[in-house]
Amino acid sequence: MPGTASPTPLRVALLGCGVVGTEVARGLLTGADDLAARVGAPLELVGVAVRDLATERDPAVPRELLTTDAETLVDGADIVVEVMGGIEPARTLLLRAVKGGASVVTANKALLAERWPELFEAADAAGVDLSFEAAVAGAVPIVRPVRESLAGDHVRRVLGIVNGTTNFVLDRMTTEGLELEEAVREAQALGYAEADPTADVDGFDAAAKAAILASLAFHTRVSIDDVAREGIRAVTADDVAAAAATGHTVKLLAIAERTAEGVSVRVHPALVPVEHPLAAVRGAFNAVFVEADGAGPLMFYGQGAGGRPTASAVLGDVVSAARHRVLGGKGPEESAYASLPLLPADAAVTRYQVRLVVDDRPGVLAQVAGVLAEHGVSIETVRQSALDPDGAEAAEPGAEPAGAAANLLLTTHRAREASLAATVAAVAGLEPVREITSVLRVEGA
Ligand code: NDP
Ligand code: HSE
Repeated sequence: MPGTASPTPLRVALLGCGVVGTEVARGLLTGADDLAARVGAPLELVGVAVRDLATERDPAVPRELLTTDAETLVDGADIVVEVMGGIEPARTLLLRAVKGGASVVTANKALLAERWPELFEAADAAGVDLSFEAAVAGAVPIVRPVRESLAGDHVRRVLGIVNGTTNFVLDRMTTEGLELEEAVREAQALGYAEADPTADVDGFDAAAKAAILASLAFHTRVSIDDVAREGIRAVTADDVAAAAATGHTVKLLAIAERTAEGVSVRVHPALVPVEHPLAAVRGAFNAVFVEADGAGPLMFYGQGAGGRPTASAVLGDVVSAARHRVLGGKGPEESAYASLPLLPADAAVTRYQVRLVVDDRPGVLAQVAGVLAEHGVSIETVRQSALDPDGAEAAEPGAEPAGAAANLLLTTHRAREASLAATVAAVAGLEPVREITSVLRVEGA
């Protein structure tokens, strides 16, 4: 506008130039005009911190912006974007940034789930934004809806598929009958899973995201150490096929729920009825199902990983933080006022499907049912199928045939995890029980 001084550019420092950082840099540089119009001031990418200057990089990132001196870069910035990952030096750099008055944007769920109080206390004391939309479910807007849009409601439950790699693996096991190892190898070949797939397969990544969602949903500090975690390593092709036979699909779920006693946060594989919206989430996609008192059920769905999708969420946070710099105001501070009790893993209440192999003779079903009754676990359905109708197979070559056997599939009503664990141990000890094939929780029914 004639006579109007152009606004001072906002200095953006980018920490990391990998899968996500490269796309954040590209978005800042190629989308500069749109971003300036949306913010009300230009965003100037002043530098990109990396470990190794010699690494070949996407030409979209000008080499002259690269530096290994992350500290100096942070010191001169208005907004610091952290997409380097890991706890250190990311933590120290973010704390340095907020103490210096910069707003920070991070995609680092591992850091948030471990150092949440420290980061928020520093950001709130400095009066700057701490934003992290990309840290949960990549491109899927879920942090802002839970943190801001539902701030006037009461969230009851969050149920999500928040790890794309494990969803891809379980999907391949379901559609192709693959065993876990084969499906993980496919995920690695496609770039979903790391060479060491532990963070995904063993549920650490999903647990970090569950901690973040629970902290926001229940206004209570939840760290990754408070999350009961079980990954998908023990899930077999047989489990997946058995699930399908009963109208379920196996999903790795992150669950955070408010009960009369407190908050339960857990990550584990679960059977989801095929008609539930989460059952339809295929491949590496993510989805989060939120139930709130007023809003009722809400579903958020999209790409949970990848450079461009994740950068989309990061850039949204950058625009929001930049607008606050230009127009005044700031994003929400930490809200942990409710400080609800965090329940131990064995206090969780859910339904279970137990598969076992038993001797096929009179009275066995009654014995099994009696053990469940003794432990106060109520049976919803029982299915029996003959496993070895002739009793012809001996357990060991040369040994006597073991007699006819049957598969039993028990689905329980809702029961406490502790009661179920005691029940399964007692059932396993019954003389006619040959094997407990699997115990899987049933969610979303
Ligand atoms: P990458 O490993 O691809 O990139 C990490 C970048 O950070 C690299 O450029 C690396 O430098 C740089 N870096 C790492 N350590 C240091 C250090 N000590 N000093 C300076 N630079 C350093 O990671 P991603 O881009 O995949 O992930 C980044 C973050 O985003 C993580 O927190 C991740 O959890 C999160 N995230 C990632 C998603 C994805 O799909 N990839 C999805 C959602 C969140 P150099 O290149 O020199 O090695
Ligand atoms: N490894 C994660 C996933 C992506 O598979 O969903 C980063 O959050």
